[in-house]
Order: sequence, then structure tokens, then C-alpha cells
Amino acid sequence: MLASEVNRENLSKMIRTFYAMILKDKTINPYFIMALGNDLESQAWQKHYQILEDFWLMLMTGEKVYTRDAYSPHEELPQMYQETFERWLELFNEAVHLYYTPKLAKKFYKRAEVLSKKFMQWLDIV
Ligand code: HEM
Repeated sequence: MLASEVNRENLSKMIRTFYAMILKDKTINPYFIMALGNDLESQAWQKHYQILEDFWLMLMTGEKVYTRDAYSPHEELPQMYQETFERWLELFNEAVHLYYTPKLAKKFYKRAEVLSKKFMQWLDIV
């Protein structure tokens, strides 16, 4: 059943699905493989899931569990393009619709879209 509330349990599932999709995608996977490797069960990936759970929990519920800087790791990555962000958003949209009601999935997507735009501006892509 699709969730109409965000909690750590459903976030954890959605995030793992999202990154499994990402690693199958030739446009996006080089960035992640370079930063975290291609073993989705590794320590590095487990840590990434945890960080992303905190991040989305904060964005979606307001719980102050994420205290890091979401932007700076992206500065270290190889050149990204508008298409890289578009593909990331497409996959994210697919992943949230697998776990959440359409209304909630849309809320996730809107937040990701706003942040994508900011990241692209900060990174001088648009
Ligand atoms: C072109 C699209 C994107 C690519 C290729 C990308 C890639 C990455 C990579 C490789 C990392 C891991 C860095 C590391 O740990 O060494 C990362 C971290 C992260 N990304 Fe992205 N990202 C993208 C878009 C986004 C967007 C749109 C968001 C937010 C909606 C986002 C949120 C985050 C967060 C929260 C982290 C963890 C930051 C921390 O360490 O606290 N990313 N990203």
C-alpha cells in the first residue's frame, strides 16, 4: 500500500530503491560510483543512505535530524549538466511514486525540483 505519511522506515525503502535505479542509469551512475563505489551494500553506501534518510526526514517532516551541508559534496564531483539533474529528477519521481500516495510523491518531487534549481545555480550550470 502507498504511504500517506513519511517515516524512517518507508524513507529507508524508497532511498534504497532510488539509488539502485541510479546505479543502473548510465547518465548518473558515474558520479556515484566515483564517490561511493558500485557496491550498494558497502559501508560507504550505508552511510549515504543514513544521511539521505535524515535529509529527507527533515525536508518532509521538519524534524531537525539533518545538520550537514547538502550542497558542498556536489562541488567535488565531475562536471554535471542540466541533463544530469533532469535525469536525477526523473528517477527520483519514479522512486517516490512507488512508495507514496500521488499527493505526497508530488510534495517530494517539488522539494527536489527546487533544490535541483538551486544546486544548478550554485554550480553555475544555469
Ligand atoms: C545531478 C544530480 C546529482 C548527482 C549526480 C548527485 C550526486 C551525489 C553524490 C555522488 C553524493 C555523495 C557525495 C559523497 O558522499 O562523497 C551526493 C550527496 C548528496 N546529495 Fe546529491 N546529487 C545530485 C543531485 C542532488 C539533489 C537534487 C539533491 C537534493 C534534492 C541531492 C542531495 C544530496 C545530499 C543531501 C547528499 C548528502 C550530503 C551530505 O554529505 O550531507 N543531490 N550527491
